[in-house]
This record gives sequence, structure tokens and C-alpha cells, in this order.
Amino acid sequence: MPSSLIAGNWKMFKTASEARLFIQDFLKIYTPTDSVEVLIAPPFTALQAVHDALGSTTIALAAQNVCGEKEGAFTGEISPLMLKDLGCKYVIVGHSERRQHYGETNSLINQKIHSVLAHDLLPILCVGESLEERQAGHTPRVIEKQIQEGLHNIAADQVRQLTIAYEPVWAIGTGLAATVEQATEVHIQIGQVIEEKWKIDRQDIRILYGGSVNAENATSLFQSSAINGALVGKACLNPDTFAKIIFSAKKT
Ligand code: 13P
Repeated sequence: MPSSLIAGNWKMFKTASEARLFIQDFLKIYTPTDSVEVLIAPPFTALQAVHDALGSTTIALAAQNVCGEKEGAFTGEISPLMLKDLGCKYVIVGHSERRQHYGETNSLINQKIHSVLAHDLLPILCVGESLEERQAGHTPRVIEKQIQEGLHNIAADQVRQLTIAYEPVWAIGTGLAATVEQATEVHIQIGQVIEEKWKIDRQDIRILYGGSVNAENATSLFQSSAINGALVGKACLNPDTFAKIIFSAKKT
């Protein structure tokens, strides 16, 4: 099993100057270790600043989105080639905010995953159901479809390089995190889908939980062996809180 991964998704927060200050403060309170991998996903405009401020630490750099094309007449888009060149290791793909506000479909997400892998970057595929879908009992079906279609024609050895983030839409930014039981149930299901379809060991891939993770609930979430880390939004914008969440993962 790879080490736990704590990923900080800054979303559309922090200018490049603010990003530099954040990393300076964060490195005063957090020393990277091998037991937990940490990544930071700033906005595109702060990638270079974060990369430079991280220097030779083992904290990884990630992008929050990517274009499925390598280059061309795609105004406003950023390609995996460009992200790789900037020192990114990971790319978040299919975040529910992209699905909701920018109409990203499973098929577009699949194109992005192929492109990310083709450029030796590691995708973090986000999946998650809406409140209506959960209340209608459709969570397993929604999650399975997002995985099957998002990973269409992805080979088993490539799936092994993947991280999946289970982020229930109703838990994102609401302060209402999934309970350990709710998250564990879906994580186990995701593992089963992966094992059945690609015949690989579930232990080979990391499944993160995301949605209102904070310094208070992190410890109990990480006690579940099905939860291999977190994709953190709001709580990663503060260096102290982000460090506390990472320490919780280290302790478990
Ligand atoms: P919050 O932690 O702010 O709920 O956001 C979660 C998220 O969307 C991370 O990608």
C-alpha cells in the first residue's frame, strides 16, 4: 500500500504572492516525512511560485485541472505538457465543481485522464454523488458510472498510478463531512469496482476522502483503513490547520 496522501486543493484562492507567503509559513511548522505524502494544488497562476518556494522539499505540486490536448488552438487552456514542465507531479481531474459549473462530462474527464497519463503525470480522479442521488439510493450506481466511464480504456498498470478522491457533492464546502461509516462504505465499493474491472489489488491504489475535512474530524476519518488520505479544500488554506490534518494522518 502506498503511504497516505494529504492533498490541499486551494481552488480559486491565493495570488502568487500570497502563495509564496503561505509556503514560507507552512514550512516553518511542517517538515515533510516519508510516512505521509503531501501535495498542494494552487491555481495555475501560482504554480511557479509554489514550485520555487517548495524548493527541494518532498511536498508535491499538483494542478487543479488540465486540458485533454497536448497543444493547439485552445484559447485559455493549459496542457499536461505545460504542467509537467512547471514541475507538477499530480493533476486533479473531474472535480465536482468542474462537473457542475463547467459541464465536464465523464467522457471529457476520460480524455483528460488519458492525456495526463501520457505525459507521466499522476491523475487524481474525483467522484461523488449529489444529495438527491444519495437520498434516492443511487450512490453506488453514480460512483460506478463515474469510474467506469472516467477510466474507459485505461489499462490496469495505469490504474495503479491513479488516486481516486471520493468527494460527495453535499459534503463539499458545507461543513457537513460524511461520517466515517458513510465514507468507508463508498471507499469499499470503489475498491470493489477497481478490483473487479481491472483485476488489480485495491491496496495498490489510494482512495482519498474529500468534503469538509478539518482538523477536528481528520483523526476519526483516518482511523478507517479504507480511507488512505484526504483531499482538503477550505481547511488547507491555513498553514496551521493544514499541518494539523497532516499530523492526524501521521498518527493513524
Ligand atoms: P472543502 O474541504 O472546502 O469542503 O472542499 C473539498 C474539496 O472540494 C477538495 O477538492
